[in-house]
Amino acid sequence: MSNKKAPADTCVLVTGGAGFIGSHTVVDLLESGYQVVVVDDLSNASEKVLDRIDQIVGDEASERLSFVRADVCDRDALEAVFDEFPIDAVIHFAGFKAVGESVAKPVEYYSNNLGSTLTLVDAMRAHGCKSIIFSSSATVYGDPDELPLTEASPKKPATNPYGWTKWMVEQILMDVAKADPEWDVVLLRYFNPIGAHPSGLMGEDPKGIPNNLLPYVAQVAVGRRDAVHVFGDDYDTPDGTGVRDYIHVMDLARGHVAALGWMAGRTGCEVFNLGTGKGTSVLEIIHAFSAACGRELPYVIEPRRAGDVTANWADCTKARELMGWEATRGIADMCRDSWNWQSNNPNGYEG
Ligand code: UD1
Repeated sequence: MSNKKAPADTCVLVTGGAGFIGSHTVVDLLESGYQVVVVDDLSNASEKVLDRIDQIVGDEASERLSFVRADVCDRDALEAVFDEFPIDAVIHFAGFKAVGESVAKPVEYYSNNLGSTLTLVDAMRAHGCKSIIFSSSATVYGDPDELPLTEASPKKPATNPYGWTKWMVEQILMDVAKADPEWDVVLLRYFNPIGAHPSGLMGEDPKGIPNNLLPYVAQVAVGRRDAVHVFGDDYDTPDGTGVRDYIHVMDLARGHVAALGWMAGRTGCEVFNLGTGKGTSVLEIIHAFSAACGRELPYVIEPRRAGDVTANWADCTKARELMGWEATRGIADMCRDSWNWQSNNPNGYEG
């Protein structure tokens, strides 16, 4: 935001606010005093999330939350949102996010993820709102030459359409900021978000068979699936399994609130890594989750998954030095909170 305002006077539009990272960020925004408008079409999220948010933040804060069920590609719906609410800044989470599906449905992925962003940016500028935080991903770094990854590490060609959409939306927003110096754009490159709200009321609830490691492990723990499939044990890592920088979704949510505070009064485009700076292997995750749920989780070793990198983890010095943000929770906290969510909600929000 080009103007610095108190949170109580700042209205934040959160696209995809009913999703996993979005919902945790909405809670933090409300608890930090912001006015929040969620736009979500609920195509990959449950409306029950909104009740859970109300339960967590309480009556006073939930009065500052509005929900509009709409697709971000729907220009008329967005117009109505900008007409109704005095939006100061946007956090743009909405998008399709399944890697495998993106390979099978490239047209849908490019159309939705790029189309929604272009529609949103066009509506924003028509209403004089030029502040946006975008959910990018460490996927833009591809297979790294050097670790840890800093924001200056090279972007590599993506290995799937989902990854390309993150790559391309970053480029679009950089170009928008370059063309009009009134914009302020923050690109947040997430490493691997896991964990859940410590209350056990909110967490990750993928539809169908989970693609990502943690929801799969959690479903094995709760008995919905037989064993974890470990994709490769012949990587050049200490135990042969893939290494990632897992970050607690609560820390990630806090990163958005930190970015919002930091960008107030500034313009330009800035990129931040959001991770912990530590790498953890697949087997270490399975062992940590076993400790959290009190039972050795079964696993089987499978061949490598196409497109997977050996290892990545972040250097988050920039976020600490500029925004005063750093992750505070470790793997044991992430597994405990994820288990708390999954054991209280074995079938997710619809359970
Ligand atoms: C994946 C995406 C990435 C996306 C991110 C979003 C791929 C190739 N990459 O990252 O583009 O931004 O999710 O969260 O899909 N693993 C198993 N068994 C499983 C699932 C995963 O062994 O059932 C392993 C993987 O090989 C990897 C690690 O666990 O080593 C993490 O995998 P995952 O949770 O899918 O995340 P990424 O692949 O890092």
